[in-house]
Amino acid sequence: MASPAVPSSRKPHVVCVPHPAQGHINPMLKVAKLLHAKGFHVTFVNTIYNHNRLLRSRGPDALDGLPSFRFESIPDGLPESDGDTTQDIPALCVSTTKNCLAPFMELLRRINTRDDVPPVSCIISDGVMSFTLDAAEELGVPDVFFWTPSACGFMALLQFPHFIEKGVAPFKDESYMSKEHLDTVIDWIPSMNNLRLKDIPSFIRTTNPDDIMLNFIVQEVEQSKRATAIILNTFEDLDHEVIKAMQSILPPVYSIGPLHLLANQDIDEGSEIARMGLNLWKEETECLDWLDTKSRNSVMYISFGCIAVMSAKQLVEFAWGLAASGKDFLWVIRPDLVAGDAAVIPPEFLAETEDRRMLASWCPQEKVLSHPAIGGFLTHCGWNSTLESLCGGVPMICWPFFAEQPTNCKFCCDEWGVGMEIGGNVKREELETVVRELMDGEKGKKMREKAEEWRHLAEEATKDKLGSSVVNFNTLVNKVLLG
Ligand code: UDX
Repeated sequence: MASPAVPSSRKPHVVCVPHPAQGHINPMLKVAKLLHAKGFHVTFVNTIYNHNRLLRSRGPDALDGLPSFRFESIPDGLPESDGDTTQDIPALCVSTTKNCLAPFMELLRRINTRDDVPPVSCIISDGVMSFTLDAAEELGVPDVFFWTPSACGFMALLQFPHFIEKGVAPFKDESYMSKEHLDTVIDWIPSMNNLRLKDIPSFIRTTNPDDIMLNFIVQEVEQSKRATAIILNTFEDLDHEVIKAMQSILPPVYSIGPLHLLANQDIDEGSEIARMGLNLWKEETECLDWLDTKSRNSVMYISFGCIAVMSAKQLVEFAWGLAASGKDFLWVIRPDLVAGDAAVIPPEFLAETEDRRMLASWCPQEKVLSHPAIGGFLTHCGWNSTLESLCGGVPMICWPFFAEQPTNCKFCCDEWGVGMEIGGNVKREELETVVRELMDGEKGKKMREKAEEWRHLAEEATKDKLGSSVVNFNTLVNKVLLG
């Protein structure tokens, strides 16, 4: 017999507030869907800039939602504009901190005066959208912070106040950017061994005491202590030590990932909720048919996430390195991937690789990385990409760009055994060699086996009633959000 429907006025109501960038929106949407599956009414808050972008990329009815899953938007505080490119991250961080509380409060008041939706009972906000804390306090509801980077990256960010106390950051002058200095061993971070300064999130590399990102991180990690709880998109087997070390310095920390696996378990594949997506770029799905024609582990996948940009020269080196490797490849070239200009791909490269490559400007990456044809991933080490690769059993070539990506790279290469790093100023010959090693060499074989082990453990963590992330998610719901 079907269980009686919960009257809407008695449903719990969660308001989800992601940082307005794709790598933050995607995992927050998964949390929102999972809570909806648990009977929550959901309000998902985008910025107006992204709301308009989503309507353009996904069509006019993309944000219609469902009666129990609503999309709302607030201004990000930056000068109004209509664009389809990634916004400037430091400008967004300053602006959301300064300008978002008032419109957010206004939205909450508006929601709470309606009698067709239940009153707001909890907030889940991105760890870098801490303005929500004051709103939660005024309403008297819990505010859970979702830190979307890796656990190791977050742990390193938590040390930023200590880096300043110790006189390590900001750097004294430009000479401290040297390779020798960046190789300095950092041996005092609990649970993280053998780190070098170069593995610490990129925001530390500044000589300016007023640097926006350095100060923003210090502010946001301090604010995290006020959150009701912290959630992370990882699983205990992967990050046990780091999570344990965090527990003593933060509100309760719950690892509830990999969220895309948890969501696949809990949400009916054919449902309207499952189809809801928030891709800021138009997705090109033809690559999946192309992959279907390829043999197992034969294709390199290349993508640098949503924010990374490169020079035209770097793009050309990547192109010729891939061509020289002789491998089939699927390469995502976002329209704004090359700094300052549209990407110009050498026509000779296109002609030479015509029968063994596919280019896309945006693809269904989760599906791509779990496709059996994919044998390796050249990545910027964004956390979502890294996790999706681990869950697909796919080893990586790591080209970290910014934020906590250098920390993720270090862990992929030295802790988890699934990555090989290439230099920032990559040369075509270097790329050719590592692609061959990854796809055909002994080292690549070992890394693929290791990635398979992680895939298995990630599946275990999100399976049945006893997977660690399933248990943690249920505790989060029952103890923190409904408690
Ligand atoms: C950055 C950080 O590195 C990340 O760790 C942080 O938490 C958020 O900001 P980003 O450049 O957005 O990340 O990369 P990543 O975290 O890997 O997220 C990219 C997302 O876009 C992934 O979920 C990926 O599946 C998706 N994607 C990417 C696509 O769906 N299609 C594509 O073609 C490329």
